Amino acid sequence: MENGFQREREELKKMAGTVQSCPYRTEFHIMPPVGWINDPNGLCQFKGRFHAYFQYSPLSVHGGGGYWGHCTSEDLLHWEYHSPVLTTDIPEDASGVYSGSALIEDDRMYLFYTGNVKNPGEYDYIDAGRMSTQILVESEDGQHMSEKSVLLRMEDYPQHMTQHVRDPKVWKENGKYYMVLGARARAWDESGNRRDKGGILIYESDDRKEWTLHRELIPAKAFGYMWECPDIFDLGGKRVLSFCPQGLPSEPERYQNIYQSGYAFLSDSEDVEKTFREWDMGFDFYAPQTFVSEDGRRILIGWAGMPDTEKTHRNLSVENGWQHCLTLPTELTFRDGRIFRSPVRELLEQQWRERMISDDGRLTFRRAVLVSAEGMGGEPCSIRIGTAENGLTIRADKEKIEITFVNPDGSISQCGGGRRSRTGRVEKGVERLLAVIDSSIAELFVNDGEAVFTTRIYLDRAERRLDVSECRGCRIYEADTLHSEQAEL
Ligand code: FRU
Repeated sequence: MENGFQREREELKKMAGTVQSCPYRTEFHIMPPVGWINDPNGLCQFKGRFHAYFQYSPLSVHGGGGYWGHCTSEDLLHWEYHSPVLTTDIPEDASGVYSGSALIEDDRMYLFYTGNVKNPGEYDYIDAGRMSTQILVESEDGQHMSEKSVLLRMEDYPQHMTQHVRDPKVWKENGKYYMVLGARARAWDESGNRRDKGGILIYESDDRKEWTLHRELIPAKAFGYMWECPDIFDLGGKRVLSFCPQGLPSEPERYQNIYQSGYAFLSDSEDVEKTFREWDMGFDFYAPQTFVSEDGRRILIGWAGMPDTEKTHRNLSVENGWQHCLTLPTELTFRDGRIFRSPVRELLEQQWRERMISDDGRLTFRRAVLVSAEGMGGEPCSIRIGTAENGLTIRADKEKIEITFVNPDGSISQCGGGRRSRTGRVEKGVERLLAVIDSSIAELFVNDGEAVFTTRIYLDRAERRLDVSECRGCRIYEADTLHSEQAEL
């Protein structure tokens, strides 16, 4: 693998200079060393160290796949980048080493992923032309991988599945292994029109090698036509299904992005629509995955990006040879019938220095900043990141929160790359806000993560200002030491 990547290294080095001097590079969010990143994969803590793999296309800023990139960290914030660990080198993964997960057992890492094949030709790539295979590799150090073993092929899926079956997440329970897969099932409405349904397949195994179908969950009433990146875990006594349904019709304050990403409580109802909530109300969030840290926390990292957004907005880093990043690792807790998602405590344990806001409510920042407000009592609040002409406004009033790149005069701020507005609500009114801003990404946690808004924001260094015109109990902190190494190629 390393040799394979070596051959491309010279090519990549040419791009690296431009990438590394890009003002939008983040300090502690996982980014592609060059090119494109999408889903987090194989998240785990292994022999004390955190490993994050990711869908990686170093040679194309517009994606297309090719690799599982790899980085590791002691604290989930300072990441060290390594050579990619997987690439397309067997017939079963010829068109992509797609997303998957890690299982740690007896000091060994088991990585499960989907090998994707798209045959060239006049196919619809739904019922024909595609092959989705589930594959296993093993590792003793997280960097060097065993041979690939094929676990499940097209003929192993139920007959009514289309060729979209992918993204294995594997866990062990009562001595057995389980693998959940996202799927698109063939279905028709009453008038006989094709209306596919998203769902999941769960396979079981005694030895991680032989897998048989345990059950499938395809809702009686369609909830999207395809579910990607499923994840099943227990939290607060509930069995949670996290997944990414595609094809939910957009509503003014829900399902505002092209594809959705959220969770449902399977233990309350198998009709997932009943309990479904979105993980994030911002513009840039998809394909999250969770894992349990060695100290027992359920941690989630998402892709701070979305597929197929070329028509709605663009990322200004593209011209500098890279695109997208992952979200901050967030910790999940169950409270008041829902899941709260807040930054891992390692973030707050960094050295943060309080910065005083001038009398006019303004401040210029150079490093990562936290904007934190407490005791807001649902009163109106307005925070602007950027300048008067080019920025993002965060507005909260009672239980409603809005983030908007639309300026008061109706023009659209350039730093959003075409993004406009997103709204969301919390149950009883906004009490607390925490905005984490790291160069070109802002993540807003409302009421300790009752609602989260993730968005990219492309401000030049000179435009990095805050204007806190109205916000009770607001304090601002700047990071002194947070900074990951630039990726070595
Ligand atoms: C989600 C996804 C997955 C797939 C991967 C390919 O963003 O489409 O379903 O495995 O990306 O990069």
